[in-house]
Amino acid sequence: MKMLILGGTLFLSREVAATAVHRGHDVTCAARGTSGTVPAGAALVPVDRDDPGGLRELAGERFDSVVDVATMSLPWVARALAAFGAGTAHWTFVSSINVYTDTETPGRSTDADLLAPLEVVEPGTDPVTAYGGTKVACEDAVRAALGDRAFLVRPGLITGPGDVKDRFGYWVNRISRGGRIPVPPREQPIQHIDVRDLADWIVLAAETGLTGTFDGIAPVTDLGSLLDGIAAAVAPPGTDFVPVDAAALDAAGVARWAGPDSFPLWAPATHHGFVSRDAAPSLAAGLRIRPLGDTARAALETERALGFDRPREAGLSTATEAALLRRRGAGNAPPPPPPPPLTGPDHLSLILPFQVSAVVGRCPVSGEAAEQRPPEQADHRRVLSVLLARTAFSLVAEPLGKKIPQREER
Ligand SMILES: NC(=O)c1ccc[n+]([C@@H]2O[C@H](COP(=O)([O-])OP(=O)(O)OC[C@H]3O[C@@H](n4cnc5c(N)ncnc54)[C@H](OP(=O)(O)O)[C@@H]3O)[C@@H](O)[C@H]2O)c1
Repeated sequence: MKMLILGGTLFLSREVAATAVHRGHDVTCAARGTSGTVPAGAALVPVDRDDPGGLRELAGERFDSVVDVATMSLPWVARALAAFGAGTAHWTFVSSINVYTDTETPGRSTDADLLAPLEVVEPGTDPVTAYGGTKVACEDAVRAALGDRAFLVRPGLITGPGDVKDRFGYWVNRISRGGRIPVPPREQPIQHIDVRDLADWIVLAAETGLTGTFDGIAPVTDLGSLLDGIAAAVAPPGTDFVPVDAAALDAAGVARWAGPDSFPLWAPATHHGFVSRDAAPSLAAGLRIRPLGDTARAALETERALGFDRPREAGLSTATEAALLRRRGAGNAPPPPPPPPLTGPDHLSLILPFQVSAVVGRCPVSGEAAEQRPPEQADHRRVLSVLLARTAFSLVAEPLGKKIPQREER
């Protein structure tokens, strides 16, 4: 199959390209090439989707299948549809669970109400609404152009190798270092999807002609079980979780979900529906979920490559961790050194460092604002940096120079 991946140099889209190459497809990636390299066996056609004529290098090409991961741009999606929509048998658009209005009710599926489509993002629009509304508009455009040839997948939290969002990775990193570890209340629902499982399913959809609209997410578990599962995979002997209740965390100023001094993945009750969607239709449609330990070990390799002690976009500071432990009367030795590399070909073959040149918008979050912040806000780095110029939000852009591990070959 001749596949076009609009992207291919970073995280999900790169994993889709690697998977497609591995399955023997003829893969073309269209991106600037500034976020990284495409996987071995895929071709990169340099395009800048901000340029209205940016797809000209691909003019006249035809593909059996297109995968578009446009994060937040209706014009990008519209131009791709105009260029390739008519002649393409199968089209995947990667949307987001941020399209839904109801963030609170557990167990909802794709028939839940959506945000209003946003064709133009007005200055001052809440970034989360802008993101979700733009995704809805992009979905509508794909459906209008492709009809029953469209596969629309709405991922939740994407985890695993190459994840640079620092959320799931915080827990893998911290738990791998052992000692006494403050943890949030266990009972909260949580779900995620390993980037490799999502990529496998996207390629499978193209191969089998699966179409329709699905959430891209694994079955729900609870936060305590998730942390236990990570510990089973990466914790050294003697690791001890120290539960801290929500009131104590709030009193200590610990933010929810993401951001500086946060407990990543700890979601407010207003967003428990965000992290407990019904995965059954996607599983019935071929989505396969690997064991949590596999995801944790792969994420640990990414953490190692990024640097265990780097400044993080999400996670508890050492000072706040120590303060929480003191309040619980549970002191801790200084954080132990990073663990040694895992051995064996499975792990060693996963790493290919390359440079990220993204500019990251960071939103200072605390107290009430943190409560209201939806889970995927940290995904909106480019969104935020764009809105920075146009809104009154006090967002601070800073360059990242991270080395990012990605799987090069399988
Ligand atoms: N991460 C999560 O937890 C999460 C959750 C839900 C949904 N999603 C959605 O999942 C999708 C994947 O996100 P991702 O973080 O994995 O990143 P990605 O979409 O895999 O990577 C973005 C790609 O877009 C390319 N790109 C960026 N600017 C471009 C431009 N001006 N012209 C051409 N190409 C450009 C980048 O390549 P170059 O920079 O090299 O050009 C890169 O290959 C997105 O649609 C996101 O909204 C993510």
